Amino acid sequence: MEPTSIDALLNETRAFAPAETFTQQANLNDPAVYSEAAKDFEAFWAKAAEGLDWFQPWTKTLEWSPPYAQWFVGGKLNACYNCVDRHAKTWRRNKAALIWEGEPGDERVLTYGDLSRETQKFANVLKSMGVSKGDRVCIYMPLVPEVVIAMLACARIGAPHSVVFGGFSAESLQDRINDAQAKVLITADGGWRRGSVVPLKKNADDALKTCPSIEKVIVLDRMGIDYPVHMQSGRDVWWRDAMEQAALECPCEPMESEDLLYLLYTSGSTGKPKGIMHTTGGYMTQVNATTQWVFDLKEEDVYWCTADVGWVTGHSYLVYGPLSNGATCMVYEGAPDYPDRDRFWAMIEKYRATIFYTAPTAIRAFMKWGESHLQKHDLSSLRLLGSVGEPINPEAWMWYHQHVGGARCPIVDTWWQTETGAILISPLPGLTATKPGSATHALPGIFPEILDNDGQPLPLGKGGYLALTKPWPSMTRGLYGDPERFMQTYWSKYPGIYFTGDGARRDEDGYFWLMGRVDDVINVAGHRLSTMEVESALVDHPAVAEAAAIGKSHDLKGQAVAAFVIIREGFEMSDSLKDDLKEHVTKKIGAIARPDDIIFSADLPKTRSGKIMRRLLRDVAEGRALGDTTTLADPAVVQSLKDKYEGQED
Ligand code: PRX
Repeated sequence: MEPTSIDALLNETRAFAPAETFTQQANLNDPAVYSEAAKDFEAFWAKAAEGLDWFQPWTKTLEWSPPYAQWFVGGKLNACYNCVDRHAKTWRRNKAALIWEGEPGDERVLTYGDLSRETQKFANVLKSMGVSKGDRVCIYMPLVPEVVIAMLACARIGAPHSVVFGGFSAESLQDRINDAQAKVLITADGGWRRGSVVPLKKNADDALKTCPSIEKVIVLDRMGIDYPVHMQSGRDVWWRDAMEQAALECPCEPMESEDLLYLLYTSGSTGKPKGIMHTTGGYMTQVNATTQWVFDLKEEDVYWCTADVGWVTGHSYLVYGPLSNGATCMVYEGAPDYPDRDRFWAMIEKYRATIFYTAPTAIRAFMKWGESHLQKHDLSSLRLLGSVGEPINPEAWMWYHQHVGGARCPIVDTWWQTETGAILISPLPGLTATKPGSATHALPGIFPEILDNDGQPLPLGKGGYLALTKPWPSMTRGLYGDPERFMQTYWSKYPGIYFTGDGARRDEDGYFWLMGRVDDVINVAGHRLSTMEVESALVDHPAVAEAAAIGKSHDLKGQAVAAFVIIREGFEMSDSLKDDLKEHVTKKIGAIARPDDIIFSADLPKTRSGKIMRRLLRDVAEGRALGDTTTLADPAVVQSLKDKYEGQED
């Protein structure tokens, strides 16, 4: 992606007002919703919470003692009950909840009745393994219906789940299991990705060598009997065998509103991933409501969010948001270009998808592959498109609008984070005129500001830090086991105000334009990585003395990892060492962290106090003139690096 200059963005004049026909039928079509929410945001969210079924009503809407919020205090509910039982009790029992396709082309449809039966049985399996309320369960699975069943079963019995993306390495899995002290691991023999098997059980076995908290491992047979896996007797149990023994009924555990629903690990600006905590009442309220507002979800929609459940988008908008609304959700296991580049369009046509929610990185890949793949399919069922995970460049937005949306579908560019739990900045499709590349406005009941370094609100047009000045129901309740880091990361820059880590500006119409991270977090294809995670993986290699990783802009992935590496004496700077280092990072973290470029370097640009100046490394990697070098201990270092890089770029 050619980085679009901020001035060009702020001068964007194209605007797309909602079609009258869309507005008329929209779930939210009265602009008074904004002022109503601003007048009394607690009352606004309390009304939204009525969209859930509660076993016991709350007595206090909000207890706010920054940075800790408690929402719907005294209320009791269960997330699984809201996603499954309340629908299975009605005519929706025979409505499709999940329409699933595996990458090889296998198909399954699960109704809400099926989901209810399977979830109850699996909850009994977990109980039989000694899992009870509060015990953490780790899930490391491909995107198959059973991963949804596993999550909901955990929620049913009050055992917080920690889903680890199937693309993460054994070591990443191990770190996450140990940090959460999970008691049970749910995995599969393997999963499909571009025609190859991802060896999940093998990775799990490697991880479990040093995970003393794990007592049992449940293994789903995804691959079929021909795929060999090692089963450790006394510890490992096949999903199928366990389910055969399980009783059909399992009551829902009544959870306090503030009981932990799940942990989800994400990268911060240090090497260690952090366990973001989400609790039950506030989180469920906001994902339930925003699914109706932002996606304009209706009973008859066929809703498709392409995210994996390993990320927060999968949690909030593949599982908890749409299912709590009784939606029909498409789920697809594999890659968008397998077996062909029209796989997504073929699926939209086949199942008559109406709502499609994906990431800019995917949209840019589709753009590159060309329109011929879309032209083969009838996409006329689509009525709304969404984007998430990174800033969408205006060209990609326009392409999405024209070629996927047939110039008729509103696009919702949704800004949020693992920590925020739900969408915070987004158009309301029946009310907001959209501009290509802007996430537009805060949702009702959300209060963002753009602040300068000292916490002063900035006028329109001025770039600064995006912060949230009031609490919201689905905000994270902290980092698992690390309250200090929670305070430090989000609440120390501006006391009592949540610091997002993103830069943003507002244009003269007040529209928000997100400018990317301002910390050491990089966003590769919509996935968060910390530069320090990559650096630690590199220095773990015997040839590496020192490393500095950066995100460099990339036309498909948004950002790609580039790493500057100083090697130890006795090792040779060679292409095969570069490959070796890339492989090492993949093995340590996972394929998403694989550096695109390794640049050997004799030295790194540092300030006099020894801090690596990543900004200058980005200038080098992106082929720009060097910015201000006056604070460097030795300005010659970066100049020679630039000369060298221009010679050895791969
Ligand atoms: O930088 C922002 C970017 O993704 C970060 C959050 O990443 P993660 O916790 O992995 O959650 C991704 C899915 C919600 C943010 O700090 N980001 C996310 N959505 C957008 C975005 N940047 C610009 N526009 C968006 N729509």
